[in-house]
This record gives sequence, structure tokens and C-alpha cells, in this order.
Amino acid sequence: MKALITSGGRGTRLRPLTHTQNKHLIPIANKPILFYALETVAEAGIKEVGIVTNQEGREVREAVGDGSAWGLRVTYIPQEAPLGLAHVVKISRDFVGDEPFVFYLGDNMVVGGIRRFIKAFFQEKSNCHLTLARVKDPERFGVPEIRGKQIVRIEEKPAVPKSEFAVAGIYIYDSSIFEAVENIRPSDRGELEISDAHQYLIEHGYKVTYSEITGWWKDTGKPIDLLEANRLVLENQKGRVDGFVDHRSHLAGNVVIEKGAKIVNSHIRGPAIIGRRTVVENSYIGPFTSIGDDCVVRNSEVEFSIVMNKCQILDVGIRIESSILGFDVQVVHAEGMPRTHRFMIGDQSRVEIA
Ligand code: G1P
Repeated sequence: MKALITSGGRGTRLRPLTHTQNKHLIPIANKPILFYALETVAEAGIKEVGIVTNQEGREVREAVGDGSAWGLRVTYIPQEAPLGLAHVVKISRDFVGDEPFVFYLGDNMVVGGIRRFIKAFFQEKSNCHLTLARVKDPERFGVPEIRGKQIVRIEEKPAVPKSEFAVAGIYIYDSSIFEAVENIRPSDRGELEISDAHQYLIEHGYKVTYSEITGWWKDTGKPIDLLEANRLVLENQKGRVDGFVDHRSHLAGNVVIEKGAKIVNSHIRGPAIIGRRTVVENSYIGPFTSIGDDCVVRNSEVEFSIVMNKCQILDVGIRIESSILGFDVQVVHAEGMPRTHRFMIGDQSRVEIA
């Protein structure tokens, strides 16, 4: 069985982070989102993966390479423009061939793996097996209408959702999906919608089944989703100390200190991760925080945040919380400025705080 993984898209809701980097490479617990998808398909025993990139796809190619780090063989499939997820499937026909395959949206994260979904697909002799997750905001997703145990309709981002489920971005198909994607028309936003392809299958008598995702599932489309995903991954990590922690520092709970990191006179309350060669001095790092590689945090407090590589947080008088700092960002003390509390900062920004 092969897997098809998306890694393109515009990431408009994650600007400015996505002005300078692909959203699939944003780190969650110091690891790109896309790597979790690769781990999940590898764990399910899949060896052949097609990664659909945007036109150039250079960043993704550089990060993933030939896939051997995961025991995978990766083929890159460029999509000439973001014309929708059903278009992604359409252009991947040659790669996929006639066998059933997993379609995995590279910005989705799921705990507990995908083996049981694959099993259900084969056991139920489905043409299409969907994964559903109960969410507070179904209007952001593809939404099924369910009668009994049967999906009778799927709508993409409906104003009035017919259930409290989102169709998660992990699908298992046989080759009937190729008939569907050939026979649907672009939506009002000009894209071939995957939900329309599912609706086509339902209307043409194909067997569309589903599993409910009972562990957690995250579509990392919005900033708060990134922080939530980060929280959940950190909660499930095992603490370890590979760096240096001086005798005045205190680590509580599940904390990862990577090789080359230096913790001096600081308090780190897990779950948290401190990246390679990062220095934390006279500071407090609170729960659910990821600090990337080569950062400096000095005389400051950070909690429930994602701080990417090469950031500097120096002498900041108020606690930084619920924040995402892109690569190479500086947050430093300055005299006489008004105070602020929330950040969503793109790569190479600099913010000064009084
Ligand atoms: C896409 C699909 C939607 C699905 C969602 C899951 O939405 O169109 O049906 O529920 O992924 O992540 P998008 O993220 O492109 O808005």
C-alpha cells in the first residue's frame, strides 16, 4: 500500500509565519509537522510515499530528502497551483496506480496511528474510508451528515453543519476515487474539493465508511491549533537531559534538554523541550513550551509557547504566553515602551518590550 501526503497549500491563516516558510515545516515540539505524518505512515508499515509539493517544493525536499530516515521511499509530485485536494489526487494517479492507498494531509496530526483505519477499510470492503473527529467548529471542515451508521452526505465548510464531526485529513481509497475526481467541478473558491469527490462516491453507490478518531486529532490550520498540538505532543513525550543543567536550576515534570543546551539558575516546569545549544539563564520556562535550537532566553519567563530556532528573549519584564515566535526573532527589553501580552511574530521579526 502506498501513501500520498500533501505538503503544499498557502497557509494563509498562519501568516506571517507562512510568508517565509511552508506551514508543514513549522515545528511542533521542535520537529516539523510533516515529520509526524511520515512517522505515522511508516509506523503503519507503508514504504512508498508520494509527497505532493507546491510548484517548487524545495524546502520540503531539503527537509525530507529520499525518505530513508523513516525507512520510506519518497517520490515528489509537484502541483502546478493550489487547485484543491481532489486535484492533488487527480495528478497523483500515475504514482498511486490501481491499488488502495492512504491520502494523508500533511498538516494533520493524529495520535494512536492509522493501522486501525486501514484495517477497517479492508474488513468493510470499502471504496472509501473516512476518519471523523468530534470538533467545536465543524464549519471549518468537511462535515458529514450521518443517519444510523451511514454517511448520507458530505459538505465542505457548511454554514449550518449537519453534525458535530469534521472529516479529518486521513482518507483511505481504492481507485474509484479517480473516477470521482474526474467528474466533479471546481467550487466557488475555484478548487476541486475533496468533499465533493466523497459526495460523488456516495451518490454513485460506492461504499463510504468511517471510523471515529477517539484519541486526539489536530488540523494545524490556525495559530491556536499549533499551540494545542504542541501541548499535546509535549504531554506525551518522555523527559531526558542530554544537555547541562547547573545546580541552581530546577527541572520539574517531563522536560527534554537537548544536547549542547545550557540551563543556568533557571526553573523549567514541564512538559517542555529546550533545543540544542540553547542557553536558558535566570529564567522561567513554563508548561507546554518548546524552545528551538540555538536560542537564548535570559532574565525572562515563557509559558505555553512555541519559540523557533535562533530566537533571543532577553530581559523581558512580563511573561510571554500563548505566543509563537518564528525563526531568528528577538524580543528584548527597551525603555519607555507600552507593554503587550500576546505575540504572533513572523520570521526575523524584532519586538521590544518595556
Ligand atoms: C481540508 C478539507 C476538509 C477537511 C480538512 C481536514 O480543509 O477540505 O474537508 O475537513 O482539510 O484537515 P482545508 O484545511 O483545506 O481548509
